[in-house]
Amino acid sequence: MTSWTDKYMPKKLAEVVGQKRVTDFENWYKEWKKGGKAALLWGKTGSGKTAVVYALAKEKNLELIEINASDARNAQSIEETIGHSTKQMSLFNRKKIILIDEVDGISGRSDKGGVGALIKVVKESKFPVVLTANDAYNLKLRSLRNYCELIKFGSVHLNSMTKRLGEICEKEGIECERSLLKRIARETGGDLRSAINDLESLSRGKKKLEEKDLKVLGYRESKHDIFEVLKVIFKTSNIKNSIEIMRNVDKDPDEIFWWLEQNITTEYENPKEIAKAFNYLSVADLFRSRTRVRQNWRFKKYMIDIMCGGVSISKKEMYRKFSPYRPPKRLAMYGSTKTSRKQVKDICEKMGEQLHVSSRVIMKEYFPVFRLIFKNKAWKENIQKEFNLEKEDLKIITG
Ligand SMILES: Nc1ncnc2c1ncn2[C@@H]1O[C@H](COP(=O)(O)OP(=O)(O)OP(=O)(O)O)[C@@H](O)[C@H]1O
Ligand SMILES: [Mg+2]
Repeated sequence: MTSWTDKYMPKKLAEVVGQKRVTDFENWYKEWKKGGKAALLWGKTGSGKTAVVYALAKEKNLELIEINASDARNAQSIEETIGHSTKQMSLFNRKKIILIDEVDGISGRSDKGGVGALIKVVKESKFPVVLTANDAYNLKLRSLRNYCELIKFGSVHLNSMTKRLGEICEKEGIECERSLLKRIARETGGDLRSAINDLESLSRGKKKLEEKDLKVLGYRESKHDIFEVLKVIFKTSNIKNSIEIMRNVDKDPDEIFWWLEQNITTEYENPKEIAKAFNYLSVADLFRSRTRVRQNWRFKKYMIDIMCGGVSISKKEMYRKFSPYRPPKRLAMYGSTKTSRKQVKDICEKMGEQLHVSSRVIMKEYFPVFRLIFKNKAWKENIQKEFNLEKEDLKIITG
């Protein structure tokens, strides 16, 4: 069964609602000539960036050639996937539009030249190219930005969201007051995808949606106790229940991961079960790091499913005992170094861009030299200016 977000995907530009800059996008398309800039649609998730490209293609009967940038990791695969179609007319001379979705997931200059390949595609394409990203100011995209017209997609306007939800209710034969729809919309903070998803799950099996049905939505506020989550994951053998609890809780899956890691041996006693549980956790860990490395949040879902479901089904049967779950040691350490590690990474990327070397080289080879140079105040100030560093950054470099 198709989800409502797919079912009610806009079929023409006029159906993309609450988004001021759709006309800019349309104008960009109208005025585009070979060698012209690509459109970089960027901004909030679930706000219609991908949808608007589909709508345009449908409305103008264009052939849509699409790659997801995080699947096309490097220059070669980008060239292989779309290089050919950007240069050739399609059969029957249909016009084309090229969509490179989620470019924040592309690899930067430091490894396989994905960004370089994108620039090449933009420069050489015979057809208009559209890129999407959540953050156009991601450092990785800096050089690419010069070849793009930036079009920002903000939060979908609240009233437009409410109206859209109302239309969907009407088509699905569901009765619901406008004030309730408005609340659903407000909860998601301008992410229409989430709002439609919420509406779909709330009204499953119902003809009428009432105030009391919205209680379930309160999950965004209600902070389930973490012990409650562990209890469900450890005690149930039902994968569905186990994954469900994660959805209903306002906790970072990474945090739950370490809580599970810490407490598997507290709950399970049979070595075979313990081994099994850790095995699942290690698979979940692969997806966890992939989410981070590729900045592709779809992997997070796999991580959660494998992590929660896997640990739940590793036991033969439920242990009828009270387990004193302990907070993960790892997390305490992770928490305290998290900000500084991120800062170091940011500085390295910033300097790497300018010096044309990888972050690793900056850290290993440049930082020690900088530390020496910084002993001279004038030189220190020069470098600070040159790389546009904050005071805080300097402290981090000197360690
Ligand atoms: N402005 C909008 N008008 C109409 N429908 C929308 C709008 N924004 C989102 N939707 C609905 O939400 C779904 C998801 O939107 P879309 O895929 O365009 O989000 P996105 O901005 O590309 O998000 P992401 O950054 O996560 O890729 C669409 O299929 C559509 O059903
Ligand atoms: Mg998208």
